[in-house]
Amino acid sequence: MNTENLSINARFAQDVDQGLSLKLKKLPSKYFYNKKGDELFVNIMHCEEYYPTDCELEILKNQSPDIIAACELPRKRVNVIELGAGDGLKTRELLKSFVQEQVETRYLPVDISANAVDGLVSKLKVEIPEVETTGKVGDYFEILNEVNATSERAKLILFLGSTIGNMTHEVAHQFVSDIAKNMQENDRLLIGFDLKKEPETVRAAYNDKTGYTRAFNLNLLERINEELGGNFDLSQFKHYPVYNPQTGTAKSYLISLCDQEVEISALNKTYAFEAWESIHTEISQKYSKSAIENLAQNCGLEVQRTFSDERAYYADVLFKKQAP
Ligand SMILES: C[S@@+](CC[C@H](N)C(=O)[O-])C[C@H]1O[C@@H](n2cnc3c(N)ncnc32)[C@H](O)[C@@H]1O
Repeated sequence: MNTENLSINARFAQDVDQGLSLKLKKLPSKYFYNKKGDELFVNIMHCEEYYPTDCELEILKNQSPDIIAACELPRKRVNVIELGAGDGLKTRELLKSFVQEQVETRYLPVDISANAVDGLVSKLKVEIPEVETTGKVGDYFEILNEVNATSERAKLILFLGSTIGNMTHEVAHQFVSDIAKNMQENDRLLIGFDLKKEPETVRAAYNDKTGYTRAFNLNLLERINEELGGNFDLSQFKHYPVYNPQTGTAKSYLISLCDQEVEISALNKTYAFEAWESIHTEISQKYSKSAIENLAQNCGLEVQRTFSDERAYYADVLFKKQAP
């Protein structure tokens, strides 16, 4: 590992040290997304068990004109800002609709993965040249105010793919409040929520038979090995997903299969794992209708319209600023 990487990865190193030093170990899920993680996530999205992508694609394929109408855009001009855009597969449906409806559209995809942003921007320049696309790489918690600054055009902020589910309710409320602070009367926020449903269906989505979700979780340890000089033995960790139907929280863990020590050279530290000790890697929160209403209320927003798939597994909810 070279020292240049170390400075680039200083934040990653700090977060890993903090998480692995806790009594109940955890690692932030945002670090899933390097080049390999992006590819694995795309594979997960195509898995039979992973229903959220199909549901949201169905909504955006069939209901994009209705979403655009509900935005009530003045002067047919819009700035679309997408937080955690990923490969933008589903967003393309909405962008194509904007073009069909002759709305002058600027699109700003934001993602922590440079690989995802670069890939999306070059694809869109060819596929939908009518939309003016510029990408931004960064942590949306840190650059939210900058990307969501007020502008003369109406804004549509997208937070799709159930990415809000990767936040606890507390963090989600704070994040959505921060988004709402910079929203004006004509701005809209579209959030993709995975809804509570048959628990087996939820659990299977995080435990696909092909093993992509397992590889996606283990890639976090691989990334520590590659970027921070760790020596995790991946064969000594097991991926373990659970779902609590009461709280609506799906959680993923990596569980140590034996007593072991892991050294991370960039941190000059060794971390001890007991057999069956876990690292919490991801939360995927499922929402009820009342939880969505509650989020809107607490964040100074109101639900303008809800767009659902046929099975009612998923909802893209359009919010606007609460009337003063
Ligand atoms: C669940 S995926 C959803 C991707 C896409 N929106 C979709 O619907 O397919 C989450 C995306 O958010 C990005 N992401 C996660 N945490 C982030 C953060 N803190 N700041 C910016 N992007 C983040 C990831 O790189 C990934 O592309």
